[in-house]
Amino acid sequence: MRIFSGIQPTGRKHLGNFIGAIEQYVHHQDQGEAIYCIVDLHATTVRYDPTELRERLYDTAAILLAAGIDPARAIFFRQGDVLEHSELAWLLSSVTAFGDLNRMHQFKEKSGAQRDLASAGLFTYPVLMAADVLAYRADTVPVGDDQRQHVELMRDIAQRFNARFGETLVVPRGVYREIGARIMDLQEPARKMSTTGGTEQGTVYVLDDAATIERKFKRAVTDSGAEIVRRPDKPGISNLIEILAAVTGRSFEDVERAHAASRYGDFKAAVAEAVVERLQPVHERYDALRADEPALERVLREGAEKARAIAAPVLVDVRRAMGVGPVG
Ligand code: TYM
Repeated sequence: MRIFSGIQPTGRKHLGNFIGAIEQYVHHQDQGEAIYCIVDLHATTVRYDPTELRERLYDTAAILLAAGIDPARAIFFRQGDVLEHSELAWLLSSVTAFGDLNRMHQFKEKSGAQRDLASAGLFTYPVLMAADVLAYRADTVPVGDDQRQHVELMRDIAQRFNARFGETLVVPRGVYREIGARIMDLQEPARKMSTTGGTEQGTVYVLDDAATIERKFKRAVTDSGAEIVRRPDKPGISNLIEILAAVTGRSFEDVERAHAASRYGDFKAAVAEAVVERLQPVHERYDALRADEPALERVLREGAEKARAIAAPVLVDVRRAMGVGPVG
């Protein structure tokens, strides 16, 4: 099994990223050949500051390493270091339907938020994402629930390529955590936790200190009534149950049973405590990792070499199938 996933270096990584994706990456490193990529090229599709992008890239790299990504067991690299991604994105754009791209929720959300320029890059973002995965013939893509539509599109792109040019690419499948694939904003539990669309008080960052995490959970929006159960009319409490179940590795029923007699305030404190405890080892390792940028660069470069060794021969096959580029 070959596993591939990517994460953006923009903004600050939050509890949704951590539970929905980063914990899955760490888990999957022992399930097969895992390849993880920080997608700096994707980050250029919205307005950004180039110096800041480099800083955030190191932040993200240090968080992933602190969370347990082990460069000895997984290939860990920066997207922009491996040129095959960009080339394949261009080639795949010829087998991508304009109409499909036009239906992508993320484009609709993000393009509306861009005041000065809704870029073509933002529109073709999912093609680059397909190239990320297909360049490695990966079969498994661990992601959060919000990436489902993008994963479906990359499957269509691979199938269309194979149908038109012959069996060349592997059709990947998305894997989503049963618990924690969609963590919601603590202030607005109808929307997902996110650095761009969410509220500051409702977004718990991986690097928030214990007091901040406790405060955010204390102020989390709850629902009417007093029961601690997962129900559609209780989105606030349901989200807290999901977070507690995810960070402690327990089932929903277990959490509901254990807190059946708790008051909302005590329950929120218990969730905060579990999150603080879960993130503590990440905090402990982060500072030393982040402080050593040359070491981070080394890890990413070594990862890029390993990545290129897999992607380059795939691109040879793709060029040959499409009849472009050097002959041979
Ligand atoms: P990004 O950087 O926005 O998010 C990284 C991962 O975090 C997950 N996630 C969540 N999971 C649960 N609850 C939430 N509230 C939440 N918010 C985010 C995302 O689903 C994602 O798995 N397009 C991708 C990056 C990418 C990629 C790829 C992923 C580029 N190429 C190839 C997989 C394969 C993205 O923007 O992720």
